[in-house]
Amino acid sequence: MKRMVGCDLLWLAVASCVLTLASPSTIQEDPSTAPKDCGITCRPEEECVLQDGNWTCVCSQGLNVSDIQSLQPELDCGPNEIKVYLDKCLLGGLGFKENIVAYLNDRNCREIMQNEPNNWVSITSPVVASACGNILENNGTHAIYRNTLSLATDFIIRDFLVNVNFQCTYPLDMKTSLQIALQPIVSSLNIDVSGEGEFTVRMALFQDQSYTHPYEGAKVVLPVESLLYVGAILEKGDTSRFKLLLRNCYATPTNDRNDPVKYFIIRDSCPNQRDSTINVEENGVSSESRFSVQMFMFSGNYDLVFLHCEVYLCDSTKEECEPTCSTSQLRRNGPGINLAQVLDLGPIAKTGAQTLDTSSGTPSTAGFLMAWPMLFLPVFLAQLF
Ligand SMILES: *[C@@H]1O[C@H](CO)[C@@H](O)[C@H](O)[C@H]1NC(C)=O
Ligand SMILES: *[C@@H]1O[C@H](CO)[C@@H](O)[C@H](O)[C@H]1NC(C)=O
Ligand SMILES: *[C@@H]1O[C@H](CO)[C@@H](O)[C@H](O)[C@H]1NC(C)=O
Repeated sequence: MKRMVGCDLLWLAVASCVLTLASPSTIQEDPSTAPKDCGITCRPEEECVLQDGNWTCVCSQGLNVSDIQSLQPELDCGPNEIKVYLDKCLLGGLGFKENIVAYLNDRNCREIMQNEPNNWVSITSPVVASACGNILENNGTHAIYRNTLSLATDFIIRDFLVNVNFQCTYPLDMKTSLQIALQPIVSSLNIDVSGEGEFTVRMALFQDQSYTHPYEGAKVVLPVESLLYVGAILEKGDTSRFKLLLRNCYATPTNDRNDPVKYFIIRDSCPNQRDSTINVEENGVSSESRFSVQMFMFSGNYDLVFLHCEVYLCDSTKEECEPTCSTSQLRRNGPGINLAQVLDLGPIAKTGAQTLDTSSGTPSTAGFLMAWPMLFLPVFLAQLF
């Protein structure tokens, strides 16, 4: 069994005595315990027996394990779940034979224990903030999940006999940062690709170019000169084959994704060339898409901005996914926006939005007005009346 250990930790504890295990050393095979003609290798705590004509390893009878340290749990820090593996034979030797109850910090977390091949059992904890009593630490570059596994032998909890503390460390990336944020400003969309199953795309607003600090809360309030960092990620599905492509991203002054007033940031998969503040860092090349744009406001009686992105899952085995964007101003006429594939973010408000009048002539706003003047016509007309 190969398991990722890395910088992750496991401790075994009995009552108040906490022991830290350096690395889960593998139990040495002891071939001498196997019968001569046993075709397989069993662990020292196992016996090789003939079952229905096949050799198989079973837990030795009458095993007496007095030292809890010999339990040697193993840890697997997976992308979606953390698994602690325990040797079923050694557990039996410690007295955990039947009616073993396994708990995590949150005792209401159920169905966490399951049998694994080769006389192991596993206890699973999801990699989700606060799930199953997970204690989460975000030190700025890594997310650290901690929890404690407790084993008892009875459904009536008296004293827990064994506690295993474990922790898994994950480098912060777009996905983990969204997993650990309590209230990220995020929208998600399930997309069915016929014959390929269902995919989930999430899009969020981030605070800086690391794309690992999502804004949290009900809305974002920003100074008009700040940059908006928008990240989208394909969270489920075959990410080796399907690439995430932002086909159209645009801002509207209302939460209506079909608002006739649209300011395009990405159009036909390419950045709006007339807005030099747009930086598309990644699009159509992986399971992530990222771009930044300077915050702006619509002129008129609008205090808020909403962002919308039409996403497309590009099958890299069948089509060219990375957009080729020319620097010329030629507008390509792609297909219209498929509103069913649009993710929405917002509202984004400007700090001190009540002083909107004085800021309607700021350079960034003016730049946007030049980009697609036609779109802003209704706004100006509305202002006249
Ligand atoms: C014994 O091994 C054979 C061949 O490997 C397999 O088909 C059969 O299911 C095994 N029997 C048991 C009881 O595991
Ligand atoms: C297990 O071994 C310890 C000492 O090694 C002994 O005190 C204890 O009685 C044994 N328990 C059983 C059930 O054999
Ligand atoms: C965060 O924790 C990880 C793992 O313990 C460590 O490698 C990293 O240096 C820490 N980062 C900071 C900024 O302390």
